[in-house]
Amino acid sequence: PRLLILGPPGAGKGTQSANIADEYDVSHITTGDALRANKDMDITDMDTEYDTPREYMEAGDLVPDAVVNAIVDEALNSADGFVLDGYPRNLEQAEELEGMTDLDVILSLDVSREELVDRLTGRRVCDDCGTNYHVEFNQPEDAGVCDECGGELIQRDDDNEESVRNRLDVFDENTAPVIDHYEDHDGFVAIDGEQTPDEVWTDIDEAVAAHA
Ligand code: AP5
Ligand code: ZN
Repeated sequence: PRLLILGPPGAGKGTQSANIADEYDVSHITTGDALRANKDMDITDMDTEYDTPREYMEAGDLVPDAVVNAIVDEALNSADGFVLDGYPRNLEQAEELEGMTDLDVILSLDVSREELVDRLTGRRVCDDCGTNYHVEFNQPEDAGVCDECGGELIQRDDDNEESVRNRLDVFDENTAPVIDHYEDHDGFVAIDGEQTPDEVWTDIDEAVAAHA
């Protein structure tokens, strides 16, 4: 199936996309991870304000569309089934995506703003394999060590309070209209993202089974 997962920063898109990729054997395409792996790539030829994605990401601003559209276009070309996470983030990207592929299921995770701030400022990620943890809600067996691979858990550069607040404002201004835009699309399902990770997964699994 071809899935899109939408929701604000910290809604659990990455956490649940990992489950979807495992269960449905699809590629997890995430612009956030792709950009983090290429933070220092030279984007000056795309006529951007800054020279690399890093400056945008650390502040919590959107990386210019041309850079992100190219990443998604390439990833979709080599994927059969996929779960797309972190894109589209504005209406221009949504229009671009419509020219690249059709979608079978569109999941939208709803979580309140106060909860998002707590989740993001407390998040820790494995430096080696990218698995998500939380200092309170989702602790590893051994403090600071990844359960999956033994890697070191670190805090993302954009998970400080100032960048988090800006990311949430950028979401409200640019990405919330994208969710409104998809609400009438076939296969759109709103999910209560404020439940436990297992409960959210149960709802997602049901929604995908019903539409894929
Ligand atoms: P990106 O990496 O996409 O970050 P994001 O959208 O801010 O999303 P997050 O990864 O922060 O959150 P998530 O929803 O995946 O939540 P998670 O599962 O980790 O983007 C980063 C930056 O890259 C952007 O700011 C921008 O600069 C750039 N960028 C990316 N895409 C772009 C695009 N298309 N255009 C332009 N620029 C782009 O969960 C969060 C925490 O909560 C974790 O600690 C987790 O353990 C915990 N948790 C998860 N589920 C639950 C639950 N049910 N209950 C309690 N805790 C939970
Ligand atoms: Zn790991």
